[in-house]
Amino acid sequence: LIVVKSIGDLKREPLNSIGFVPTMGALHAGHLSLIERAKQENDRVVVSVFVNPTQFGPNEDLSKYPRPFERDCELAEKAGADIIFSPSVEEIYPTNPTMIHVPIVTHFLEGEFRPGHFDGVATIVSKLFNIVQPTRAYFGLKDLQQCAVIRKLVKDLNHAVELIFCDTVRELDGLAMSSRNAYLSQSDREIAPQIYRILRLCQADLLNHIEPKLALSSSMGQLLDNGFEPDYFALVDWNTMSPTEVIDENSFLVVAARLGTTRLIDNLKLLG
Ligand code: PAF
Repeated sequence: LIVVKSIGDLKREPLNSIGFVPTMGALHAGHLSLIERAKQENDRVVVSVFVNPTQFGPNEDLSKYPRPFERDCELAEKAGADIIFSPSVEEIYPTNPTMIHVPIVTHFLEGEFRPGHFDGVATIVSKLFNIVQPTRAYFGLKDLQQCAVIRKLVKDLNHAVELIFCDTVRELDGLAMSSRNAYLSQSDREIAPQIYRILRLCQADLLNHIEPKLALSSSMGQLLDNGFEPDYFALVDWNTMSPTEVIDENSFLVVAARLGTTRLIDNLKLLG
């Protein structure tokens, strides 16, 4: 495994087809499955570990975000990474950096509850694509709206990369893998899988032709009954990430809810 800590050093590595897995570290089985897939499909795999400050709001968890760097290197190498790219914040962000705003797909949901978040994501992903020059880049569909934003970014800015979106990896009890699950208290960890159960129930209701408004408000009620503080529970078209009542290949149920101090997000393809 080669650890590279500057853009110049990365450029000196001889690479053919490059699979790229951008991460903020604190790797879990979801990340590792992206790295494994990238390894199967490319000559070399680059994993970036960079906790991107511009995608955190002022009251978010930037300073306490987990940073187990040595462990991340070991796990990434075992999964097939050839290079860990972990640049400094100073090298990536000059003062007054140019920021990228992707319109439409960022207006609702996470974009509404985390203002500026997707400008940070779009900017760092665009910069990393320019630096790493990957053939293919791998993202988990757990962050569905992030995938929609990156898809539009790549199309609109003509990035020459093939995007591969991979299914959410779940714990045995259904909880979607996330680095932030580590924040959950033991009792909240027991409640957390209810999110996925409620998504599945709502999916069944909608497929049984229950009125979407009714099914969605019942899901909100179930989240509250289980002790969550929901930000949203919605049926969206993932091309626009805006609310829909249409049920087709593009329809997804999306949810964000707080449990104690941890904010969880999840989604489910309706015709999955
Ligand atoms: O999904 C993430 O971990 C981050 O949003 C990403 C894509 C690495 C950008 O910082």
